[in-house]
Amino acid sequence: MISANPILQPKKTFPKEVFLNGEWINSEKAFVSVFDRGFLLGDGIYEVTPFYDGKPFRLKDHLDRLQHCLNEIQIEFDAFSLQEIMLEAVSRSGFFQSDCAVYIQITRGVAPRTHFFPEQIQPTVLLYAFPAVLNGFENKQASVLVSEDLRWHRCDVKSISLMANIKANNQAHSLGLDENLLVRDGFFTEGSHTSVFFVKKHRIFTHPEGPHILSGITRKVILEMCREMDLELSEKALHINELKDVDEVFLTGTTTQILSVKSMLLNEKEIFNRPETGEITRQLQEAFLKLIRSLS
Ligand SMILES: Cc1ncc(COP(=O)(O)O)c(C=O)c1O
Repeated sequence: MISANPILQPKKTFPKEVFLNGEWINSEKAFVSVFDRGFLLGDGIYEVTPFYDGKPFRLKDHLDRLQHCLNEIQIEFDAFSLQEIMLEAVSRSGFFQSDCAVYIQITRGVAPRTHFFPEQIQPTVLLYAFPAVLNGFENKQASVLVSEDLRWHRCDVKSISLMANIKANNQAHSLGLDENLLVRDGFFTEGSHTSVFFVKKHRIFTHPEGPHILSGITRKVILEMCREMDLELSEKALHINELKDVDEVFLTGTTTQILSVKSMLLNEKEIFNRPETGEITRQLQEAFLKLIRSLS
């Protein structure tokens, strides 16, 4: 068995307090009804926003995505009404001089259980800051599993119903691997909690936006950086048969940043092996580091 990379395991703790339905509450005293549709049906969405040295990164993009998801599942709520509370969460948490992230979850709320959306229902809103390890990614590499993408056809909605994602991730984790890259109809979509990029003959490939991937905010930053750096880019899905011509693979995400992939395992066979971080991945990592450390 390959041993899990301890650097990639984030430190997990409960926050001391949470913002729940309009008030700050000691997290030990924060409760949600057993009839909340998030609990009963997974009827809700979530968002994770990074803060570097206490400063938000791409806050508007994260709130825009949250609003997109709310609209798609027809929960009437103004995502931007949480902007100040996110900043407050970080300053109250004591993590404002270090790296952290803010978790937001909005469910449809509490109602007798039905398959249709009940009317006149108040959404349940939860928000809290948590410490996150957002450094050193440029010195690490990931080993990943490859498996079939068994998720629904609305992966652009950041749903709290994450069963297919967590099952895939757990499969990788139980093998001591860092991520599970998902393949739908022969094409790589994304990881269980990351976006994925491939470099083939100096051209960068990533799955186009749409219902089969989450529109990653880090993915968006990478696309912007590629344009600024004049790197060749195609928002085109890579077929698994093309992997033999791939020189570099990297993962991106809010808490993953830009992580080079060193090996890929499919059906117990290694199908990709690059023990060194590739040149283009390295260039993007350097540009990303400059970006996050120059936040004001
Ligand atoms: C399925 C999936 N894809 C991609 C990402 C990366 O998105 P972002 O860069 O916005 O964190 C995530 C992050 O949670 C995810 O869950």
